[in-house]
Amino acid sequence: MNDRHTSAPLSLHPVAPDPARVSRPASGAHGLLITFEGIDHCGKSTQVLLLRDALLDAGLPVGCDSAPGAVLREPGDTPAGERIRDLLLHDPGRLAPWTEAALYAAARAELAVRVLKPAMQAGWIVLLDRYVDSSLAYQGFARGLGVERVRELNDWATGGLMPDLTFLVQLTPELAARRTGGPPDRMEREGLAFQRQVAEGYAALAAAERQRYRVVDGAPSAQAVATQVERVAREFLEAVGVL
Ligand code: TYD
Repeated sequence: MNDRHTSAPLSLHPVAPDPARVSRPASGAHGLLITFEGIDHCGKSTQVLLLRDALLDAGLPVGCDSAPGAVLREPGDTPAGERIRDLLLHDPGRLAPWTEAALYAAARAELAVRVLKPAMQAGWIVLLDRYVDSSLAYQGFARGLGVERVRELNDWATGGLMPDLTFLVQLTPELAARRTGGPPDRMEREGLAFQRQVAEGYAALAAAERQRYRVVDGAPSAQAVATQVERVAREFLEAVGVL
């Protein structure tokens, strides 16, 4: 288990704000799933937290029943998912590509059944740091397993639950590499050429699904990127009648 857990029943990242500060969904509301994607160190984890704060300030019900106000992240955020995360990111050995894809999908199946679907039914706005598109870009595209085959695996794992909106925080692998800190995990050890392929995979996914994807430039300051993300999120939430 990692060190960012709260005392919530699920092991959620990062520490959730005071639940009293978080609005509850209106009864009968349908939830929304908003995901953040991008290569390693593109800055999406900072952005998802800044958007969370902006949406909470706007009085929106961000989070899920077990952790109001929390941002979720993959792989992990369920007890089994955290154990799978350990295997995927902290095991020193190599994993066969389909082992890797299946483990990400297994962690995702847990999250989908135990957290995401109940949250959608209860009317929460779930902010999720990585989801199916990560597997499509990393395993399907960069590992060469095939985007469609990995998509099919993930359809089974999630029961077809896909995001309503996906932010792709775009940054060149060269710039992202300059932002690294701490020892690299198993995926980060793959190096620059691998990150270039992941970036190419994401660009192709975003081009194929313009309705769902919003591409933001991750190169400016975190605050400037956050302004861009918040504007796009507000437009989307207005369009679906939430704001
Ligand atoms: P993490 O430490 O959460 O990094 P990040 O802040 O970049 O999200 O590590 C997640 C790593 O796992 C990251 O290198 C991307 C990779 N990954 C996949 O390869 N496939 C997946 O389906 C997911 C969810 C993540």
